[in-house]
Amino acid sequence: MTINNVMVIGAGQMGAGIAQVCAQSGFQTFLHDMNEAALNKGITSIERLLARSVEKERMTETEMKETRNRLKPAVSINDASKCDLVIEAVVENMAVKAKVFQQLDEITPEHTILASNTSSLPITEIASATNRPSQVIGMHFMNPVPVMKLVEIIRGLQTSEETYQAIREMTHQLQKTPVEVADFPGFVSNRILMPMINEAIFTLYEGVASPEDIDTVMKLGMNHPMGPLQLADFIGLDTCLYIMEVLHEGFGDSKYRPCPLLRKYVKAGWLGKKSGRGFYQYD
Ligand SMILES: NC(=O)c1ccc[n+]([C@@H]2O[C@H](COP(=O)([O-])OP(=O)(O)OC[C@H]3O[C@@H](n4cnc5c(N)ncnc54)[C@H](O)[C@@H]3O)[C@@H](O)[C@H]2O)c1
Repeated sequence: MTINNVMVIGAGQMGAGIAQVCAQSGFQTFLHDMNEAALNKGITSIERLLARSVEKERMTETEMKETRNRLKPAVSINDASKCDLVIEAVVENMAVKAKVFQQLDEITPEHTILASNTSSLPITEIASATNRPSQVIGMHFMNPVPVMKLVEIIRGLQTSEETYQAIREMTHQLQKTPVEVADFPGFVSNRILMPMINEAIFTLYEGVASPEDIDTVMKLGMNHPMGPLQLADFIGLDTCLYIMEVLHEGFGDSKYRPCPLLRKYVKAGWLGKKSGRGFYQYD
């Protein structure tokens, strides 16, 4: 199947990045968010990143203009009726995602593939909110999307081979590397990454070391490019908490229980970089 028109739903840090990469790769791209201010912020951040690419000579002025022309802010989700593929990147919450997929199932043409950028939620369950489970798939991009090469592709129980092949091909067109993983909580990436971040938060909670020192140990001692607490701030502490809850519930194993300090920060609205405060403070 040919994919020409794409809609990305959710113009937060992931959705904006996905929309940018789709538009850059030649797809007509609609970006939708239920919150108009978030939509405008997403478009502005894409424009800023494109301009920076021109400054750094990674892109020509003409390529920037063509990319911008392919990118269309969509105030209404109904523009999904024009799309061959919709990639959902709203909050990591099953009830919210299920509602979006139900709506998309009604709005989009029969052939449209519905993908989720979920970090951890079961694709099979998201698919069951629709009447087209064979055309629902996980497409898990990494943050920041324009930079990171990996996309985990997750087949739900009923995802068809045709859907899988179309998404695999599209991922290559985005200049990314697809890796197929099974539909298990956290897939591969977050099953390994999130317990490490959660353990770093427990280490802080128990007073073993300061945030800076925990991050320094992992950067200088393990050669990680970024410490786990800074990475958690960049991912968003609400997203980290949702993922730990999915792992905890999905495996029923207490080793995945979210650290109480993580819960406390999220309750306080300290969501990391996007809210200006997490384990560190941001301007
Ligand atoms: N942050 C990461 O590093 C990361 C990495 C990979 C995947 N993800 C996944 O991507 C998804 C989005 O994460 P994010 O970090 O971009 O979140 P975010 O909080 O930055 O953005 C979410 C956006 O979705 C919008 N939204 C919420 N409900 C909506 C609805 N019903 N319809 C339309 N828009 C809606 C919000 O207004 C917000 O702008 C989550 O599923 C997350 O698990 C995140």
